[in-house]
Amino acid sequence: MISRPLYLVAGARPNFIKLAPLVRELQGRDNLPYRIVHTGQHYDYLMSGSFFNTLGIPEPDVNLEVGSGEQGLQTARILERFEKLLLEEAPSAVVVFGDVNSTLACSLAASKLQIPVVHVEAGLRSFDRTMPEEINRLVTDVLSDILFASEESGVLNMNREGIPAHKVYLVGNIMIDSLEHMLPAALERDTPARLGLETGDYALLTMHRPSNVDREATLKCLMNVFAEISLHLPLVFPVHPRTDQRLQELGIRQAIPNRFRMVEPLDYLDSLCLQKHARLVFTDSGGMQEETTYLDIPCITLRENTERPVTVEMGTSTLVGNDPKRIWQAFKQVLAGNYKHADQIPLWDGKCAGRIADILEETFWNRPK
Ligand code: UD1
Repeated sequence: MISRPLYLVAGARPNFIKLAPLVRELQGRDNLPYRIVHTGQHYDYLMSGSFFNTLGIPEPDVNLEVGSGEQGLQTARILERFEKLLLEEAPSAVVVFGDVNSTLACSLAASKLQIPVVHVEAGLRSFDRTMPEEINRLVTDVLSDILFASEESGVLNMNREGIPAHKVYLVGNIMIDSLEHMLPAALERDTPARLGLETGDYALLTMHRPSNVDREATLKCLMNVFAEISLHLPLVFPVHPRTDQRLQELGIRQAIPNRFRMVEPLDYLDSLCLQKHARLVFTDSGGMQEETTYLDIPCITLRENTERPVTVEMGTSTLVGNDPKRIWQAFKQVLAGNYKHADQIPLWDGKCAGRIADILEETFWNRPK
């Protein structure tokens, strides 16, 4: 048994889905004590609490309650509060997930105090530094001591950047652990019917990236495209708070046809259920590119690049940016029934958390203080 706990740090919605399988795995082992730290980057029930409940994650031991803010402000707040926590009780290591501001801030605080940093979902690169997440990925990986990659491209990227190979492990995709674990419960839901949709006969849309929702002209153009698409296939759009704010500021809500259903953010089970039964998905989410690939559902990705290239090369994702012509082209291809199918991605097998816990055990168990 190690004397000091591991800190498992999560802050935003996609983090919680990655945290859950590792918590479940550590609960089954008594030699790796841990504490869950929530930064409070996401705080609304539908963005945070609902995920803890649905995924069975225990209440966080600590919540830093940082809330929203500009990139620098939010990052700085997390850095300040997390450093204070680390000074009170130095954990044996800090485990961070994904690429959100909480990931970056907590790695920085820990590494300055010489506390080992473990990054789950390391090495992904979009090569697009206009994305805040790309900066978060680059900095976190430079600071990390153990780097767990979800796909082969992550290993190659880190190799190219000179990150020592002995720190890097290809363990597979921890989100798929959550997906496999929760899919039976998700399929018991009647989410499409509840939303007035027919199984296999609707499209699911999500978008929240600054590149799609922050500029008025882009967001208006996308909303027009999807309003038109909904005349061909009913479309359901769970609206992320960032997008909701922009839509309200621009007064766009009123002009939507009624086959274009806008709803509140979904909980995890409804999201899986809607993806599984959709004819296709339009999204700019990284996680949904992976989930649709695993489920073999066509995914028209509203981005020019992706840090998860395996979802394009072996999966169901097609990159179309926010160009109406390319969106229509891909949509028609799906309707015509000649869209590609997914291959099985190596190590996306529901056992990723076990591999991570084994390596953590080897590294931190019986480690000298
Ligand atoms: C963040 C992540 C993004 C991830 C996304 C998933 C960064 C840089 N971005 O983006 O990578 O894909 O989470 O959801 O870390 N808000 C609420 N309630 C909440 C949280 C946010 O209303 O619980 C609103 C606030 O107005 C806030 C805005 O949403 O200003 C954006 O939140 P923020 O956490 O800054 O970024 P996301 O767009 O959610």
